[in-house]
Amino acid sequence: MFVLPAPALVDPARGLVLRPWRSSDALVLATAWAVPDIATQATVPGVGTVANAERWIAGAPARRGVGMSLDLVVGPLGGDEVWGEVGLTRLRLTAGDATRDEVEIGWWVLPGHRRRGVATAAAGLLAPWALAQLDVPRLVARIEGGAEGSEAGATRVGLRRLTSLDATRDLWTGPSDRGAVPSAGLAG
Ligand SMILES: CC(C)(COP(=O)(O)OP(=O)(O)OC[C@H]1O[C@@H](n2cnc3c(N)ncnc32)[C@H](O)[C@@H]1OP(=O)(O)O)[C@@H](O)C(=O)NCCC(=O)NCCS
Repeated sequence: MFVLPAPALVDPARGLVLRPWRSSDALVLATAWAVPDIATQATVPGVGTVANAERWIAGAPARRGVGMSLDLVVGPLGGDEVWGEVGLTRLRLTAGDATRDEVEIGWWVLPGHRRRGVATAAAGLLAPWALAQLDVPRLVARIEGGAEGSEAGATRVGLRRLTSLDATRDLWTGPSDRGAVPSAGLAG
């Protein structure tokens, strides 16, 4: 399993940076985990308490070190604020007896920072970096069908819907799909 490096990714035109989580971000992270659509549509690892958020932030370097996930704050260039999160996670998909290891991209934006291109810019920075640096043929995303903004955002990042995962979620893939993905019966 390869080690995910920590990128320093900046969008100067938007004044946006992707940076590691800091312990001082715990309160805002706990608040984000309690936002209903973030809790249901993003993969939230714990109950929205500050103690859980602190533990999760403290574990980020270890998760990155073993290639499990890369979790980054989306925020202003030169500032401490948290606008949202974008991350990569190892995901094992199964189809019958076959399994495939994929890299999932996921993101969320705090309600006060939505509808100004933050999600599109953040995922648009991380996705090409991941394809170039991690030597993977594609990324995947689990997107709730019909969820407000989720499908539009995935499309803006260059992903396309591939198949249903379960009753509520679809599997999306891209941005440049250089490999075949089984088209049915996948489960995360
Ligand atoms: C979905 C989400 C990430 C959008 O964040 P955002 O920063 O507001 O998104 P952007 O401003 O980059 O907009 C991206 C596209 O989605 C559209 N969009 C965003 N929110 C929308 C909404 N509530 N209703 C309709 N369209 C919406 C935008 O119009 C834009 O499309 P366009 O450029 O073609 O008009 C945010 O609402 C969120 O965190 N939701 C909960 C978690 C989630 O769904 N994550 C995605 C799955 S991992």
